[in-house]
Amino acid sequence: MPIYKNIHTEFKNHILYVTITREDKLNALNTHTLQELHQIFDEANQDSEIKVVIITGSGTKAFVAGADIVELVNLTQEDAVSLSKTGQNQVFDLIEKLSKPVIAAINGFALGGGLELAMACHIRVASQNAQMGLPEVFLGLIPGYGGTQRLPILVGKGKAIELICTGDMITAQEAQKIGLVNHVVAIDDLLKTCENIAYKIINQTAPFAIKQALLAINAAFDKHKNGFEQEMNSFGLCFTTEDCKEGIEAFLQKRKANFKGY
Ligand code: COA
Repeated sequence: MPIYKNIHTEFKNHILYVTITREDKLNALNTHTLQELHQIFDEANQDSEIKVVIITGSGTKAFVAGADIVELVNLTQEDAVSLSKTGQNQVFDLIEKLSKPVIAAINGFALGGGLELAMACHIRVASQNAQMGLPEVFLGLIPGYGGTQRLPILVGKGKAIELICTGDMITAQEAQKIGLVNHVVAIDDLLKTCENIAYKIINQTAPFAIKQALLAINAAFDKHKNGFEQEMNSFGLCFTTEDCKEGIEAFLQKRKANFKGY
């Protein structure tokens, strides 16, 4: 992996760790950071050695405190549409559609674009000190990186409208109650909890099946796709792999499957 300016990456035991390192700006997402995220996730998608990605922010105060507000000064309507479109296509949609699970380790404030980043991930684990919200309305804006679309999917329309229209910040515990995060743990246990989820996937499952599961689940929320049809096709495709034969054989022979990734 190349060296990045605003992101630290580390690869260990099939996990790619991605840490945003703008701690003095609470890891706010400026254009350069988004470009680096694009590059990292694009490469991670193609690297079969990477089976799970864990993304977090540096420090203990913030996951990501939003899009970099400094870059919003003097945007024209066209600039704003372009910023939103580029970010969604190159980062947020890319993460959601990644062929391997991405786990957000939410270690503090996840606000605006930060919560949108966490929501684009497949699994969210928050530390007890984390706080979440979409406060764009306080700036006279609305979320522009998919927040209006992904929040209702996770928490329902009514709660999403309340959160977006009040700009309310909620605690990790409240976020768990409404389904916005999967787990809440002590800050010292955050990474370990994410790794434990990652290792279940890495050690016990076939990568092709995981890829097809993500495709089928995403299709359920894509207006242009028939999720049931995607599931049937994905289910069928699994049977073309060696790993599927191995998984079934291993079960019948009462042994642990040895998946090869094809
Ligand atoms: N964009 C750019 N800079 C940001 C930022 C953002 N979204 N969020 C925080 N920062 C910067 C601050 O400007 C400050 O920089 P400085 O030290 O050079 O002045 C630094 O990060 C620390 O933030 P600060 O506001 O001093 O910390 P705090 O503990 O008082 O407050 C927050 C923390 C998260 C409540 C507050 O930073 C905040 O409201 N941030 C903006 C959240 C937001 O509206 N996000 C949506 C953007 S679309």
